[in-house]
Amino acid sequence: MATKPILGILTWREGKRFEEPGYLRRLVLAGRQMGAETFLFSHQDVFLSQKKIRGFVPAKGGGWESRMFPWPELVIDRYRKRVKEYMRLRHSGLFSFANSPFSKKWRVTEFLSKHDRVKRWVPETRLYARGSVKAMLSRYPIVYVKPGNGTGGRSIVKIAAQGKQYLVQGRDRRLLQKKASFSSAEAVERWIQRWVREQRIRDGNFLVQQGLDLALVPNRVADVRLLIQKNGAGEWDVTGCGVRLGPVGSSISNLHGGGEAISFSRFVAKRFGAERTRQIQQECSQMAHEVAAVLEEKFGRMMEFGLDVGVDVQGRVWLIEVNPKPGREIFRQMGDRETYAEAIARPVSFALHVISTEGRQRARHTGT
Ligand SMILES: Nc1ncnc2c1ncn2[C@@H]1O[C@H](COP(=O)(O)OP(=O)(O)O)[C@@H](O)[C@H]1O
Ligand SMILES: [Mg+2]
Repeated sequence: MATKPILGILTWREGKRFEEPGYLRRLVLAGRQMGAETFLFSHQDVFLSQKKIRGFVPAKGGGWESRMFPWPELVIDRYRKRVKEYMRLRHSGLFSFANSPFSKKWRVTEFLSKHDRVKRWVPETRLYARGSVKAMLSRYPIVYVKPGNGTGGRSIVKIAAQGKQYLVQGRDRRLLQKKASFSSAEAVERWIQRWVREQRIRDGNFLVQQGLDLALVPNRVADVRLLIQKNGAGEWDVTGCGVRLGPVGSSISNLHGGGEAISFSRFVAKRFGAERTRQIQQECSQMAHEVAAVLEEKFGRMMEFGLDVGVDVQGRVWLIEVNPKPGREIFRQMGDRETYAEAIARPVSFALHVISTEGRQRARHTGT
């Protein structure tokens, strides 16, 4: 008799408060629907001596209820905070994970920018050091400075040369807009020096990056969010993509920063026409597959990536960022319910695929 596969989802919680309750609720329900015993747990919920987990599942009237579950055969790591107890658990070898630990933004960017299969899509990037801003400004009309361990568009600055002036425009840690203008690269350099000191997260460093002209709509930043996931056959597949359009005058497009979500093909076609849009979409997809393959080779088995992709005013495709624990709300915000449902079902399909193939392998080894 086949028993149900057991799938755990590791995430942060405080009491019954979870970090992404909407998504996680749908994920657990998708797991249940596809025949897996699925539950959320956090680092506090591991009872090693009993080999049991306190798991959380959606309660009938809303909210969450908990009970004890058997040890999961596979765990999806969805923990997005760098809590010490989590880090310990992550590296303890106690669980088999669907997705391997990933690295900080600057290490990933550095790795990709040197890799022959993908470097053509990566904007030139340097680690911030004295003089690096000035040097990059002499090469590019737009330069971005951003924390090598930041998220959500925080602490990112855009510097744009305009005539003899440099316009500096950024968001601080609380996403408040900062603007300034300078008449020399030296003055920008000094301003950035202070910015880096004030905005630094823990011991993090900063990246100085070739800026892309993403103003497909004048005065607004638009970039593409692409979701590539493993499917039920264990193969990479692009689930979908959408465009995030930043607010007027903003240097970032992040939804937290007030951006809106719109259809990729409609948006890009308006600027480049249908034929060129197909090519651009194809290049995005090719890039996503290459990036996923190259990263998996380096970091071990992965399950999904959200790519922040830039399509510049010339129609060139660029890789801005790779998110190993990506959101998928963009599809819901675009009103694309089908892709949204697919984006939630796929992690479960993939997990079930891993459980069944690894289970078979174990059975072969032990002869049972
Ligand atoms: N080199 C760049 N050129 C143009 N825009 C950029 C560049 N780097 C970042 N951005 C803008 O800032 C946003 C946030 O940057 P990102 O590197 O994705 O950091 P975060 O982790 O904070 O999301 C991007 O989605 C894009 O809109
Ligand atoms: Mg990003």
